[in-house]
Amino acid sequence: MRVLGLETSCDETGVALYDSERGLLSDALFSQIDLHRVYGGVVPELASRDHVKRMLPLIREVLDGAGCRFADIDAVAYTAGPGLVGALLVGASCAQALALAWGVPAVGVHHMEGHLLAPMLEETPPEFPFVALLVSGGHTQLVCVDGIGRYELLGESLDDAAGEAFDKTAKLIGLGYPGGPEIARLAERGTPGRFVFPRPMTDRPGLAFSFSGLKTFALNTWKQCEREGGDLEQARADIALAFQQAVVETLTIKCRRALKQTGLQRLVIAGGVSANQALRQALETMLGELKGQVFYARPRFCTDNGAMIAYAGCQRLLAGQHEGPQIQVQPRWSM
Ligand code: KG4
Ligand code: ZN
Repeated sequence: MRVLGLETSCDETGVALYDSERGLLSDALFSQIDLHRVYGGVVPELASRDHVKRMLPLIREVLDGAGCRFADIDAVAYTAGPGLVGALLVGASCAQALALAWGVPAVGVHHMEGHLLAPMLEETPPEFPFVALLVSGGHTQLVCVDGIGRYELLGESLDDAAGEAFDKTAKLIGLGYPGGPEIARLAERGTPGRFVFPRPMTDRPGLAFSFSGLKTFALNTWKQCEREGGDLEQARADIALAFQQAVVETLTIKCRRALKQTGLQRLVIAGGVSANQALRQALETMLGELKGQVFYARPRFCTDNGAMIAYAGCQRLLAGQHEGPQIQVQPRWSM
C-alpha cells in the first residue's frame, strides 16, 4: 500500500510518500519559521495561508522525487488534530479532495501518534512494547505503547510542555524563535555550575511534569544578571545551560521511573525536543545503566514532518480504518 501523507498542524507543511513494502519513498518539507520569526511565535492566520500556498507544489515534488504518478497512490493520510484549526483544515481539505478525485480512501491521523511512530522509519525500529516520551511544543507525555493504537497514558505535564518551556524561556532572555534550538546552541558555551535550576516534581512520586516554574526562575536569574551588569552574553549562555540541564534531568528521572513501573527496557523519544542532543545523551547513559535501549528519529523527523503522518496513516489503513468524504478536524484531541 502506497500512502501520501500531509502534515499542516502548525508551522511546517510536510508531505511524504510511504510504501508499506518498500518504506519511505520521498518526502518534502517547507518550514514557515522565517515567516513567523518577526512576531516571536506562530501567527495562525499566516500559517494557514502559507500552507495553502505550499501544499500542491510540495505534493508535486514528492511524487516526482519518488517517480510516481497519481494512479500509484492507494490512500491519502492527513493530520486531523490536535493543532491550529485553520492550518489543520488546509491539510484535511486537500487530502479529502485528492482522495475523492483519485477514488482512494482518506484517513485522519493524530499528530502525536505520528510523532510517536516516527522512530519506526529508522533502520532499527523499536519492537513493541515500549515506553514513549513525547516531548513537543504542545505536549509532554509518558505513554506505555503495546502496539499501534494501544496507548496507555502514564503521566503528562500539568502546565507547559517541555518545548513550550524552551520557547518561552528563550523569549524571556532575549533569544529568537523557536527557542529550543537557540537554547541548545547557546548552552554549549555555558559555564557548568554557575546557576542551578530546580528539577520540578522530582521530589515526590509519580510521572506528572510541571515546567511553567522554570521560565519564571530563568526570568528572575536574567533580571538579577542585568542588575549586576557584567558579561550579559555569557550570562545568557549560562542560563541556557542551567535551564536545559534542569529539563533534561527532570525528563530523565521520570523516564527511569516509567521504565521501572512498567518493567520495560525500551524507551522511545519523539517530538521536537527529542532532537535535543543533551537529552539524547542523558537518556543513552541512563538506558546503558539499565542494559536497555533508547530509540529516536533522525532530527528532521523529530520535528513536524509528512513522513510520520504517511507512516501512521498507513498503519491505520492496514488495520481497516478510514474516513468518509467529510472535512473534519479536531484542534483539541487526546490520543
Ligand atoms: O514536534 P514539534 O515540531 O511541534 C509540535 O508538535 O509542537 O516541536 C516543536 C518544539 C518547539 O517547542 C521547539 O523549540 C522544540 O520542539 N525543539 C527543541 C529542539 N528542536 C526543536 N527543543 C530543544 N532542543 C532542540 N534541539
Ligand atoms: Zn509536532
